[in-house]
Amino acid sequence: PNETLVVAVTGAAGQISYSLLPLLANGTVFGPQQRIQLRLLEIPPALTALSGVTMELIDGAYPLLESIIETSDPMVAFRNADVAILVGAFPRKQGMERKDLLSKNVSIFKTQGEALSQVASRDVRVVVVGNPANTNAMVLSRFAVNIPPRNISALTRLDHNRACAQVAHKLGVSVGSVDGVCIWGNHSSTQYPDVIRATADGVPVLAKLGGAETVAEHFIPVIQKRGAAVIKARGLSSAMSAANAIADHMRSWICGDDKIVSMAVAADGSYGIPEGIYYSFPVRCLGRGEYEIVQGIEIDEFSKRYMDATKDELLSERDDAVSLLA
Ligand code: NAI
Repeated sequence: PNETLVVAVTGAAGQISYSLLPLLANGTVFGPQQRIQLRLLEIPPALTALSGVTMELIDGAYPLLESIIETSDPMVAFRNADVAILVGAFPRKQGMERKDLLSKNVSIFKTQGEALSQVASRDVRVVVVGNPANTNAMVLSRFAVNIPPRNISALTRLDHNRACAQVAHKLGVSVGSVDGVCIWGNHSSTQYPDVIRATADGVPVLAKLGGAETVAEHFIPVIQKRGAAVIKARGLSSAMSAANAIADHMRSWICGDDKIVSMAVAADGSYGIPEGIYYSFPVRCLGRGEYEIVQGIEIDEFSKRYMDATKDELLSERDDAVSLLA
């Protein structure tokens, strides 16, 4: 059997974690042989609620779950962590400006980056879920000086899954037959869900979706605004589907994936996206926590406009974050 994997989860008493923790404990994410230890981080006011979550995890009687630690100290939560899933973030409250929200989160991800850098495993793989996810990952990376930027990512798999599901729905095919979809850029309403090269059972879907103009009008905005649509209907933001996407993201990254998936990763100049931001790309997951950005995709004018808009948003978020750090 493999050595036990130490998995840290922040925001562990929140609604996404409530759907995520069972998937970690039951072997869905790391495989049916992989034993895990959970390190659950919360802020002090949520520790009582967290103790209830822990009781439920214990009552789940998961054979793969060796131990659970609850803490409000990042240095405890991240000690020897092999995987860190950063769900906790400061939520947007009524009347709050974008910059106020960013300011709260910059300080959370600075602290957590420093702690991860000091006590996590050198090979730790980190996914940031808490919003603004891409920029939080960028801040984290700046302060996690011992962690290679490529071991840090932000979640755009939910957007990717939404795009695959909408293609399948519109064409009346199974979602498993859909391939070649990807999300470029920010996990925000400027993201670019790209179906130009998407296929269903190997057949290109663009024409069946009505061509680029129709996609621009009726497909792209549905994906961009899907999170808001869920909030409007449910009164709460996506949690079940977010947890499922985190599970997919981690499983692809750690165990590998035959399909191309979307991850926000450290930009390296590919497709003209400058270093220093976390941008979602189509990636190939090679297993053991290795990935490569898919190269050689020809970018037409249609795609370039979208890719630039979401890049510009990320650059402006970066500038705001850097000025808050100064
Ligand atoms: P929630 O409010 O139910 O839970 C968040 C939890 O994080 C709370 O229990 C809170 O006490 C905790 N928390 C806050 N600051 C913390 C800190 N410094 N350290 C540890 N824990 C902390 O929120 P929910 O629905 O679980 O969402 C969590 C985040 O995920 C939000 O920022 C949300 O916007 C984001 N999100 C991102 C998605 C993506 O695709 N990237 C999709 C859906 C949500």
